Amino acid sequence: MMNHAAITGWGSYSPTRILSNHDLEELVDTSDAWIRTRTGIGERRVAAPDETTSSMGVIAARRALERAELLPREIDLVICASTTPDHLLPATACLIQQQLGCTQAGAFDLNAACSGFIYGLAVASQFIQGGAARRVLLVSSETLTRFVNWQDRSTCVLFGDGAGAVVLEATPHCEGVLSVALGSRGDIERMLVIEAGGSALPASADTVARKAHYMKMRGNEVFKMAVRNMAQTAKEALAKANLTLPELTAVIPHQANLRILTATQEALDLPAEKMFINVDRHGNTGAASIALAMGEFLDSRPVQVGDHFLLVAFGGGLTWGACVLRWADIAAIVRRRAQKLSA
Ligand code: UT7
Repeated sequence: MMNHAAITGWGSYSPTRILSNHDLEELVDTSDAWIRTRTGIGERRVAAPDETTSSMGVIAARRALERAELLPREIDLVICASTTPDHLLPATACLIQQQLGCTQAGAFDLNAACSGFIYGLAVASQFIQGGAARRVLLVSSETLTRFVNWQDRSTCVLFGDGAGAVVLEATPHCEGVLSVALGSRGDIERMLVIEAGGSALPASADTVARKAHYMKMRGNEVFKMAVRNMAQTAKEALAKANLTLPELTAVIPHQANLRILTATQEALDLPAEKMFINVDRHGNTGAASIALAMGEFLDSRPVQVGDHFLLVAFGGGLTWGACVLRWADIAAIVRRRAQKLSA
């Protein structure tokens, strides 16, 4: 019998320091009005000096494990989706595995930029469906504010820090991840890049002087591609799940820019109230954004077994993807788990 992969726990973490648009007016030639009108962002969170992608991920992961009523040693695999790892080596997933005490788990990182959570759900659910893992901890965490040039007004106003995590678990019922659609197109035009620090352009005094370790983006081109591909990939994932838009309880999109979200919602002909939006308070938190938004959604309203959600993203790489979820009967999964243990 084929397993499905259901979300049985979730957690998120946002750093306490708030950077408002007015704070940014002191740093670069911008205004609260420009940022709000062009992006919908009012404020974003910034990691404290002693916080990292792994430390924020660990807090979100602990919350997800607690919600799933699982111990760290019951996890088979830890995946960390991030564009801003603690180091090139070791993988951030390994640091999270160690700090949590997931002693029985494999661990690796996944870089699909802002689509990282969707790619992570795709990988995690395949591990579970194929029987190679029973429980996967997927952590999406970003410290993007360490990779923006605070003198570049076209990027520094957009990004924020944070983390979200989910536990995915095997279930014999048709629930959890119903479908995934993924896409990519290698960014040879260099629309969204961090040029230096890899094998193509190793760190040197010159790369530091040229600020080549910071993110560069041609926002307008990325914007147009994002709208086109988010709507398209959302339709593909829905078709694969054999569902239609009216059957969705909510759409939880990657939070890059309110105008992208509104354009996607209109392209899908979706009522505005079905789109969950928190970009106003977090800005663009990369791979963490959908996991953070989902955590806020689930913590703020009751969700029924059988509710359908569509998650959709576009990001650097370039990458895009969508995932359809059917909310699982978590209590039944926890009960079956307890019965197996006592048998
Ligand atoms: O997570 C996935 C990857 N990222 C995204 O999806 C982001 C996609 N892009 C965007 O969100 C938008 O393109 C931006 C918000 C980045 C920019 O908005 P835009 O409407 O595309 O503006 P633009 O780049 O065409 O720039 C318009 C003007 C320019 O001035 P001129 O050349 O018309 O005089 C910019 O220099 O706005 C200027 N500008 C600013 N002005 C005040 C750019 N950034 C700022 C700023 N404050 N922060």
